[in-house]
Amino acid sequence: QEDLFKNVVSHAKEYGFIFPSSEIYDGLSAVYDYAQNGVELKKNIREYWWKAMVQMHENIVGLDAAILMHPTTWKASGHVDAFNDPLIDNKDSKKRYRADVLVEEHREKINVKINAEIEKAQKRFGDAFDEKQFRETNPNVVRRQNQIDEISTRLAQVQADGDLEGFRQLIVDLGIVCPVSGTTNWTEVKQFNLMFGTKLGASAENAMDLYLRPETAQGIFVNFLNVQKTGRMKIPFGIAQTGKAFRNEIVARQFIFRMREFEQMEMQFFVKPGEEMKWYEYWKTTRLNWHLSLGLGKQNYRFHDHEKLAHYANAAADIEFNFPFGFKELEGIHSRTDFDLKAHEQYSGKKLQYFDNETNSNYVPYVVETSVGLDRMFLAVFATSLKEETLEDGSTRTVLALPSVLAPTKAAVLPLVKKDGLPEVAQSIIDDLKWDFNVAYDEKDAVGRRYRRQDALGTPFCITVDHQTLEDKTVTIRHRDSMKQDRVAISELRNIINNEVSV
Ligand code: GAP
Repeated sequence: QEDLFKNVVSHAKEYGFIFPSSEIYDGLSAVYDYAQNGVELKKNIREYWWKAMVQMHENIVGLDAAILMHPTTWKASGHVDAFNDPLIDNKDSKKRYRADVLVEEHREKINVKINAEIEKAQKRFGDAFDEKQFRETNPNVVRRQNQIDEISTRLAQVQADGDLEGFRQLIVDLGIVCPVSGTTNWTEVKQFNLMFGTKLGASAENAMDLYLRPETAQGIFVNFLNVQKTGRMKIPFGIAQTGKAFRNEIVARQFIFRMREFEQMEMQFFVKPGEEMKWYEYWKTTRLNWHLSLGLGKQNYRFHDHEKLAHYANAAADIEFNFPFGFKELEGIHSRTDFDLKAHEQYSGKKLQYFDNETNSNYVPYVVETSVGLDRMFLAVFATSLKEETLEDGSTRTVLALPSVLAPTKAAVLPLVKKDGLPEVAQSIIDDLKWDFNVAYDEKDAVGRRYRRQDALGTPFCITVDHQTLEDKTVTIRHRDSMKQDRVAISELRNIINNEVSV
């Protein structure tokens, strides 16, 4: 799995998807740039989300709020006081860690041992193996599962209580050692705010302290009434937004999984108080179906229902995805009650209430939120699509089997040779198709090598122009996944591509 992940990172760089930020200065930790192909894939994921959320729902509209907001926003939202990570230093190595991550990694190690045990038994018993029964009866697995359950319960408890000493005790009790010094010599656990600060104004005395937004959601809450009134929106309705968010993450690892500058795709759905659980269930199902529609495999998703809830939520679940480093949060679905709107009413002194024509009364709506990281979606799609295949003749090929709708380039047009007028015909095909699709031209190297390059870039079709094309206006079209080639008329190309890549 580690190798797979390394492949993902190096493929992303080698094929122009993702570069480390400011690489010539040795990069900036947990900040990345999307390169020529990455920017297309990312845009396509964003559009796929926008289409499903805004275009397909008459009662959801878009918004693009500013990254900088009045600083009181973050007081009201609770981010100034409560958006903290618990940190712990090892006295010997002087290295700093997130206390919760140390515990989670410890728990994951136990899980890995369980999986190894299961794999071993599976090999031994073959078809007769019953995993459920094995999990329930094998003493080693039962003991380890109990450990995992106990760790999860204690972790959730100290997190919910904000019990910093309890956190330290948990780390000590589990005998967790510092990965660098190898000792258990820890300091106390301290809270560290994750928001990036910045200043508005030139002179030091008068400058106003601002924050870079740590989530896009607050831009939606403060605009709730503006949108509702000008859009004449009737409850239930939603406001959707995509955009950058910033968090000063301490443990920024795993490539674009946890970044300091990232992009969110969020939707706040405003409902009548009392109806929030119905809508919470609706959005859980709807969002999972959206993910499944990409065809990355049902087995790669699972729900994680939160038992301990944040102060503002009355229900919360994550959609977790099977990343190369295990199941982790991809999207959050939260029933946020009226916490945010009420807090903004209180801090701004302005009413943020909905007037219900039917009942002739005002109320503060409840909110169900769906929030997915665009970069995490990118990683999920990219890592799952990257495959090393062994072909019938024993050779291997690397293929990025992206869902066609998301592929950065939909077709590459390749003249078989660089002469006899074939490049000109290829160019005329491109000129015709580029109104509808991203198409690429490539004339370098033997055609087999060009196919492989397009496979690695995730291009669903290669269109090859040869001497027969000059006679009968047909080309070969090669399908990325099956590698099957068909002879078709140039005039059919648009339809063939469209059938494959449209939603
Ligand atoms: N408005 C709710 C909210 O922001 P969150 O669970 O903190 O909730 C939502 O974030 C989603 O944003 C996560 O599920 C994840 O996909 C993404 N996300 C959060 N922090 C991230 C980070 N540091 N890097 C990349 N994506 C992140």
